[in-house]
Amino acid sequence: MPVTREPFGTTREGKAVSVYTLKNGRGIEVRVIDYGGIIVSLRAPDRAGRLADIVLGFDSLADYERSSPYFGSLIGRYGNRIAGGRFTLDSKTYTLARNNGPNHLHGGLKGFDKVVWDVTPFERGLVLRYTSPDGEEGYPGTLRATVTYTLTDQNELIFDYEASTDRATPVNLTQHSYFNLAGDGRRDVLAHVVTLYADRFTPVDSTLIPTGEIASVGGTPFDFRTPTAIGARINQDDAQLRRGRGYDHNFVLDKSGGAGPTLAARVEESSSGRVMEIYTTEPGLQFYSGNFLDGTLRGKGGVVYGQRFGFCMETQHFPDSPNHSAFPSTILRPGEQYRSRTIYRFGVAP
Ligand code: GLA
Repeated sequence: MPVTREPFGTTREGKAVSVYTLKNGRGIEVRVIDYGGIIVSLRAPDRAGRLADIVLGFDSLADYERSSPYFGSLIGRYGNRIAGGRFTLDSKTYTLARNNGPNHLHGGLKGFDKVVWDVTPFERGLVLRYTSPDGEEGYPGTLRATVTYTLTDQNELIFDYEASTDRATPVNLTQHSYFNLAGDGRRDVLAHVVTLYADRFTPVDSTLIPTGEIASVGGTPFDFRTPTAIGARINQDDAQLRRGRGYDHNFVLDKSGGAGPTLAARVEESSSGRVMEIYTTEPGLQFYSGNFLDGTLRGKGGVVYGQRFGFCMETQHFPDSPNHSAFPSTILRPGEQYRSRTIYRFGVAP
């Protein structure tokens, strides 16, 4: 179905923002704005075919600009944290914006979530382009990023990330949608049942920077290898859960051969029957249980978002990789092409 476009307000800097609506032949409807590439709504059927909006967000652009905890946004240049906002690359030390306590988070003060992307619609989706100038938020090199959102008739929302640079730079692009599969973000997600295809995770320090250890999930509340409710163990007396105030950790995905996307996670919500599967080419998945939501944000339709009213599944390389040589590299060099694919597949349980 053709993509439609309507106005969605004007940024504080006076730029006109549009909202694009994608629909497939099976009732799924995704609305995306060019500001931050934000998915502002995603309507998906429950087991009775009833549509509801399964992502958190706001009604107005002003709310997204003022106080959004990355609802629905594209994240770059670097998803998650870089310790002390500092890294050394080819013997040169770079200093980035510190926008999260002592650390750099999600690309800095004005990351890819807060810029207006250049959007070109096509039949089943959108191509979003942004050129990040050399030195932006402290990063080296001009980075040309292209992200393609495709909605298929198989109820998949596909994200294809590409980037190239003229100087070596870290790159770690992701998508920060908050889901609540029960619909309309009206209650917490603790009863959602999660499976993560990960034997290991990266424990963090008190500022949520990986310690460098790659730990087994076995015998810990991080073991989601069999389907387990988010809330089943979230309040256990566990040092890692205390640091994240719940789940806010990178899982090391099981990768067995092949370069294509592999199943990383499955989430099921029993009252609606909605199921979501996440496939990715990335080595990591940040599972965030919405711990920092605290009832101060009023979202779409005036709904107040309390703690853990949404969860995120951010496919990515590991946090703080530029400072951990043992982690898979996030450095992109001139002449190389950054490519990454993630698929969210929506369905219902029988
Ligand atoms: C990411 C981080 C969290 C938090 C959210 C936004 O998922 O890992 O700690 O900062 O973004 O609130």
